[in-house]
Amino acid sequence: MATRPRAKPVRILVVGTGSMAAAHVRAYQAMPGVTVVAGVDTRPDVLKAFQTDHAIPHGFATVQDAIAWGGFDAVSNVTPDSVHKTTTLPLLAAGKHVLCEKPLATSHADAAEMADAAARAGVVNMVNLTYRNVPALQAAQALVAAGTIGPVRHFEASYLQSWLTQPAWGDWKTEPRWLWRLSTAHGSNGVLGDVGVHILDYATFVIGAMPARFTSRLATFDKAPGGRIDEYTLDANDSFVMETELTNGALGTISATRFASGHLNDLRLRVYGDTGGLEVLFEGGKSLLRGCIGPDMPTATWRKLPTPPVPTTYRRFVDAIRGTATPDPTFARGAALQAVLDAATLGAGADLPA
Ligand SMILES: NC(=O)c1ccc[n+]([C@@H]2O[C@H](COP(=O)([O-])OP(=O)(O)OC[C@H]3O[C@@H](n4cnc5c(N)ncnc54)[C@H](O)[C@@H]3O)[C@@H](O)[C@H]2O)c1
Repeated sequence: MATRPRAKPVRILVVGTGSMAAAHVRAYQAMPGVTVVAGVDTRPDVLKAFQTDHAIPHGFATVQDAIAWGGFDAVSNVTPDSVHKTTTLPLLAAGKHVLCEKPLATSHADAAEMADAAARAGVVNMVNLTYRNVPALQAAQALVAAGTIGPVRHFEASYLQSWLTQPAWGDWKTEPRWLWRLSTAHGSNGVLGDVGVHILDYATFVIGAMPARFTSRLATFDKAPGGRIDEYTLDANDSFVMETELTNGALGTISATRFASGHLNDLRLRVYGDTGGLEVLFEGGKSLLRGCIGPDMPTATWRKLPTPPVPTTYRRFVDAIRGTATPDPTFARGAALQAVLDAATLGAGADLPA
């Protein structure tokens, strides 16, 4: 009987060992042949707790120290948005594969520099757009690409969070991991940069086209006396709305907010074509795809559609390193999304005459 060849071992370094790092580690530690060998964090107490919690043998204060040590093949970069570029570039130069958290950077110029550096290095590079892991998203993309709902004419996409109106994820008024997300000086582009990137990817991946032109508005609401808490000026946007025409002519809206009371973390996409409509939902942590297609259209009958399981971005990253999968979404995709986010920031706030 033939024995299956053992998968190539992959040694992972996690850079930035805060809240989201645990999800990366848990995913890798469940994969045969993959070992998380080390962490890097500028906060020694956070690094130590991370190493203890996940039984990780090595820890470093800087990326440069980890590169000098060298005992790893690939990296999950889970640092705050503002340091993705400065931490990733030396790792690419050292020939390491990188899965970087979203958004790839805080400006298109930085994201493009990272994409160019990754292409030059010839390493596997991916952005952790986690909602690519939602089965309904992948099934919907396949249906649209196959022409099942015909040319897409109209869509609505929204990302609904409420961590500024209720405490389910902790107290944003006292916890730095929430406060940095509210402050541009701490590298945040607000809800637009934080989860706007997810819903922009969600909609444009399914429809298969990017915004060609749009208008957008951002809002920052009063949340604390004087708009400050400690060293954090609460000036980053809390809500955004974009109306856009895509390169395929489809017209639609994309929005995100941290004030969607009643929703912890829900993504909704409704896509309408000439021969059918789809609802691509990720609500309450559950993936659901509904369609009203062809003969069901005159009676407006919506049916639940099959959504086969999909590999996670972590799995696809490891498979790409092993040469058994194509990396996607890449840094180049991250840079293309960042170009839209930059333009959405600039396009915000125009007032019409009264
Ligand atoms: N894909 C998703 O669904 C998802 C979900 C949550 C967060 N994120 C992203 O993950 C990233 C981290 O978010 P988080 O919530 O874990 O933040 P966090 O603040 O909890 O953790 C970030 C960690 O990085 C460390 N750090 C800062 N600068 C560093 C540097 N130069 N070198 C090494 N370590 C450094 C900090 O000390 C901190 O421990 C962000 O980019 C965020 O947008 C993605």
